[in-house]
Amino acid sequence: MILANERDAQLEERILELLDRMTLEEKIGQLCLLNGAGGQIPDALRDEIAAGRVGAVLNEVDVGTVTELQRIAVEESPSRIPLLIGRDVIHGFHTVFPLPLGQAASWDPELIERCARIAAAEAAATGVNWTFAPMVDIGRDPRWGRIAETLGEDPWLACELAVAMVRGFQGEDLSSPGCIAACAKHFAGYGASESGRDYNTTDIPEIELRNVHLPPFRAAIESGAASLMTSFSDLNGVPATANDFLLQRVLREEWGFDGFVVSDWESVPQLAVHGLTADDRESALAAARAGLDMEMASTTFREHLAGLVGEGKITTREIDAMAANVLRVKLRLGLFEDPYTGPGSLRLAADLDPLEAARDAALRSLVLLTNRDHVLPLSKRTLGSLAVIGPMADEPVEQLGTWIFDGDPGCSVTPLQALREYLAPDVDVRYERVMETTRSRSAEGFPAALDAARASDAILLFLGEESILSGEAHSRADIRLPGIQERLISELAATGKPIVLVVLAGRPLALESVFEDVDAILYAWHPGSMAGPAIVDVLFGEESPSGKLPVTFPRVTGQIPIYYAHKNTGKPPTPETVVHIDDIPRDAEQLSAGGSSFHLDAGHTPLWPFGHGLSYTEFAYSNLRTSRAVVPMGESLTLEVEVANVGEREAEEVTQLYVRDLVASVTRPVRELKGFRRVRLAPGETRTLSIELHTDDLAFHGRDMRRRTEPGRFHVWIGGSSEAHLRAEFEINHASKE
Ligand code: NOJ
Repeated sequence: MILANERDAQLEERILELLDRMTLEEKIGQLCLLNGAGGQIPDALRDEIAAGRVGAVLNEVDVGTVTELQRIAVEESPSRIPLLIGRDVIHGFHTVFPLPLGQAASWDPELIERCARIAAAEAAATGVNWTFAPMVDIGRDPRWGRIAETLGEDPWLACELAVAMVRGFQGEDLSSPGCIAACAKHFAGYGASESGRDYNTTDIPEIELRNVHLPPFRAAIESGAASLMTSFSDLNGVPATANDFLLQRVLREEWGFDGFVVSDWESVPQLAVHGLTADDRESALAAARAGLDMEMASTTFREHLAGLVGEGKITTREIDAMAANVLRVKLRLGLFEDPYTGPGSLRLAADLDPLEAARDAALRSLVLLTNRDHVLPLSKRTLGSLAVIGPMADEPVEQLGTWIFDGDPGCSVTPLQALREYLAPDVDVRYERVMETTRSRSAEGFPAALDAARASDAILLFLGEESILSGEAHSRADIRLPGIQERLISELAATGKPIVLVVLAGRPLALESVFEDVDAILYAWHPGSMAGPAIVDVLFGEESPSGKLPVTFPRVTGQIPIYYAHKNTGKPPTPETVVHIDDIPRDAEQLSAGGSSFHLDAGHTPLWPFGHGLSYTEFAYSNLRTSRAVVPMGESLTLEVEVANVGEREAEEVTQLYVRDLVASVTRPVRELKGFRRVRLAPGETRTLSIELHTDDLAFHGRDMRRRTEPGRFHVWIGGSSEAHLRAEFEINHASKE
């Protein structure tokens, strides 16, 4: 058996041998990622590859074309170096799983790993060997369209799920059939784009960057992510693509990353648009000097790096290091041994059935937000007729969500199809689409919908947002239901029939103005290929819902940013101090003592908190205990809690553990997630769960930016959401471990 460090040494030797025989032009070629031509190979691309002037191609998924591209690279180019073939395999390939934000709502790393494994295998079968995923940006602004692609607002959850995705894509060994290289993106801070407007500026204090935005990147890298993509955004005055603090100091010096960093699409020439550089030549120099290895889509590296070397502005050693980072990943992928990872790569283990995984993932991503008087689950035994209403009920494409270039809508089963199949012949289903799209403003379809509603025992409403309303460059300033959906809800509510609202959307929507009008809300995100069967299973109680929110749901847009792990402030609000705008007396005075921190028109609480999600059963938590009251620095404690299913149905629960560091050298959030478990319990069953917490899990970056755990008192809560009540305490003693 070859030991890891022996293998690494052999790999470095091979890199040196390769670099030794490559010309400067070929080395620069490795730094060049060009867009494919969709099933064709234009002469220019053929010639460039044959000349060794291209290291990677993206957006080519025709297996014959990919094979030919690789053939040109390994048979005709001077140093015979295979290509990376990149693609956005974000939440599935042919089979589409829920949006990453929806997958995050499953809080199920094993399931997420399974989905990524299947996506990798399907993609690898076309010759793709590199995915631009996982996206690990922290998403705390639902206006931002790309929140759909995030793993939510919380660093701990994002770390766990990012690791699962990397494992799924890359497997145990990157060179195994069906495994593809991952790319953690967008390094870093993209999620903090001002006002949620895509590509907008970000100003993030270093302490927050390190405590909130960077951990998932680090976790992805520690689990072996082969590459990283820079963000389009400007971070504290230096766009990420030329940010040496990120790319050198943090990534290479502190974290020891040895893969490669790719720009985002044309983000190198955009450095001039940002105003950091004067022209492409300066942009190429700034990005390369900062630590970027590969340029996506644009060609400033190819046009200017050789000249810059000639002028002594950049050294050949620096170019060698950049090329080495790319070659290292190609070697780890085993591309030199076999560049043709074609259809044979689709070797899925028997337990990896794509549609079954898609159904499981969709099922576990569904979050039951509210369920007045237990209107859900419905029963086909008692229901005579059902009105199925809304533009999202029967949309094989829209249920797939953003970034599904290769998704096969032919695999989609829509909610309407699944309902008809499940309910026939017992229940009479009346379907009214009502609106052309979720954005429509015509009420022409309302009378027919109201007739259908009046003639039915219950109303199932499928509303939300189509795929195109979230994702890249699709941010919104107002996150209420678009078009005249709110009016539709209120008119249907006037019929007095029970209404179940199923929302398909790529972001949290502000639902305060409608939630009183409906009896239940099931939040489905964009659930992917098997949306229909999963939704029907939950609506009719074949399964109990078990998704939990990976992101806070505001009441109104103006509350954003609102997230559970906020700081306490010096004036935290309480029910006694919060006054609603309608209740301010006419002669109210301004007090010099001030008040507390809330909005007059929205209070301070979200509509639904992070971690929230109802079930058809009830879970009771009791007997929370710590294995020790005082934990010496560097050691662990175990928290135990009893979780009982005190309802009447078997169901799964996501048990969550939160802590608060009561006093620290910098203020700490009021709660932080530090662990979770998904458990399935039969009615009446009680299980003792134990979660281990190491003092290192409580570490944070302080004012000097060093990561440390500070001694002192901690509160710990365990329960079914970030508002868990059951609390214990422990103390960490003696000074921090340096
Ligand atoms: C731009 C997006 O920001 C990035 O996430 C994606 O991977 C690339 N385009 C390639 O499609």
